[in-house]
Amino acid sequence: MAFQKAVLTDDLDRERARAFFAEHLPQESGWRISDSRVDKELQIPSVILMALEDDRPIGCAFGSNDPEDVLHWRAAGHAELAQAISRRLFMVHQLAVAATHRRLGLGAHLLGGLELHARQSGADLIVLIFDTTAPGLDCFYRSQSCEILEPGQALVIEFSEIKRLCHFRQRKVRYSWAYKFLGTGPEMSHDGAICL
Ligand SMILES: CC(C)(COP(=O)(O)OP(=O)(O)OC[C@H]1O[C@@H](n2cnc3c(N)ncnc32)[C@H](O)[C@@H]1OP(=O)(O)O)[C@@H](O)C(=O)NCCC(=O)NCCS
Repeated sequence: MAFQKAVLTDDLDRERARAFFAEHLPQESGWRISDSRVDKELQIPSVILMALEDDRPIGCAFGSNDPEDVLHWRAAGHAELAQAISRRLFMVHQLAVAATHRRLGLGAHLLGGLELHARQSGADLIVLIFDTTAPGLDCFYRSQSCEILEPGQALVIEFSEIKRLCHFRQRKVRYSWAYKFLGTGPEMSHDGAICL
């Protein structure tokens, strides 16, 4: 399908993306879009892609290098782990397509755009959490070659360079992690940890 693409950079654009998600995501989830000043202060740049039709937003995707965990480990004094997470993981925080434009390949295209950015920035893994009770989401992420964990199951990653195992938990039992390797593919340990 034909549409215009925009990479949103300034704060007025970000406001537009927030409004789009407020209208098209069933419930607000994940990390919220911050202002560019906050991104700079946190040193965690975010990427927002928008698909436009006649200058009207019809799809949007927002991701960055997992600020929640990076900030948690920084605050806990584990700067090395925080740095490893921010360098190697890219998290999709919000993704939505207007109901009128679904099943036309736009969601796949937006996810692919975030994936390309993550790959270019040197991340090894793209990760996200989704509501397993929302119809079609598991099919969508599987169709995009994502691996999906059981609802409530923690994502376990071993950062081999720094010899640290990290459990990425989430509080809602009906939510699942989905992830996709971006490089040649890391090894899985016998207990199910992803070794990066
Ligand atoms: C999830 C979402 C972004 C997918 O966007 P989309 O543009 O409709 O998806 P695509 O057209 O790129 O779908 C690609 C493939 O995914 C699968 N898929 C997508 N939606 C599906 C659904 N509802 N049921 C079953 N399979 C689905 C299909 O295999 C599809 O290919 P096909 O249409 O050729 O069969 C969209 O449904 C959406 O905005 N949902 C509401 C917001 C939301 O819940 N976002 C996710 C937050 S984690």
